[in-house]
Amino acid sequence: MKIIVITLFPEIFNALNSGISGRALKNNLLTLTFINPRDFTHDPYHRVDDRPYGGGPGMVLKPEPLWEAIMAAKSQLPSAKVIYLSPQGKTLTQKHIQNGASQKEIILVAGRYEGIDERIVTMLIDEEWSIGDYVLSGGELAAMVVIDALIRCLPGSLGDEASREQDSFTSGLLDYPHYTRPEIFAKMTVPEVLLRGNHQAIQRWRMKQSLGRTWLRRLDLLKQRLLSQEQQALLDEFMQEYTE
Ligand code: ADE
Repeated sequence: MKIIVITLFPEIFNALNSGISGRALKNNLLTLTFINPRDFTHDPYHRVDDRPYGGGPGMVLKPEPLWEAIMAAKSQLPSAKVIYLSPQGKTLTQKHIQNGASQKEIILVAGRYEGIDERIVTMLIDEEWSIGDYVLSGGELAAMVVIDALIRCLPGSLGDEASREQDSFTSGLLDYPHYTRPEIFAKMTVPEVLLRGNHQAIQRWRMKQSLGRTWLRRLDLLKQRLLSQEQQALLDEFMQEYTE
């Protein structure tokens, strides 16, 4: 997969050089490059922003350098969708990310200041994506969130490919609780079933916890799903024990 990020602050993305994303970049599962709109300014001050027409606080990214930067990215990745990270976009879910990960090329535009000139959105942006209903100081962190989530979906990116299947949301449910050694910590023990090595019982316990947590914390997710008879029975068990 190839991603170009249009950003005034490419150095922010250095954080992606660690951990799972760092390994994916090193192994060339993902080629990540940057284009800086400041390199497409033609005035002596290299201005990339200006005051908003109509007045008001903040600055708006000027259209000309952004236009040239996006066009330069499109010439490198002709089949790429151009995605603008903004709180006005559609809120991302794991489904959108899985869809995105099936693309060969993506161009991400990270805005700054109050936003980008709307004529760029009209002319050059294919989709607007938000990572949640809150406002960041710029699209860079949002783009990094998207890139990290995309990388997890690329085959070969995870040390153990099974862990993707276990991710919350991949199954449409929240994850079950995890434990590791020591067996007793802060006077709390590990659930018995996890110590006995009965894999079927462990699977049932984990599914029950996933269902129960989703019921407690994200009823909206549960309502979107059709449960199997066994899952419904496990959830009933969980609900029964919870209300006892
Ligand atoms: N830029 C600023 N806030 C954002 C958000 N919530 N999602 C995506 N991009 C953003």
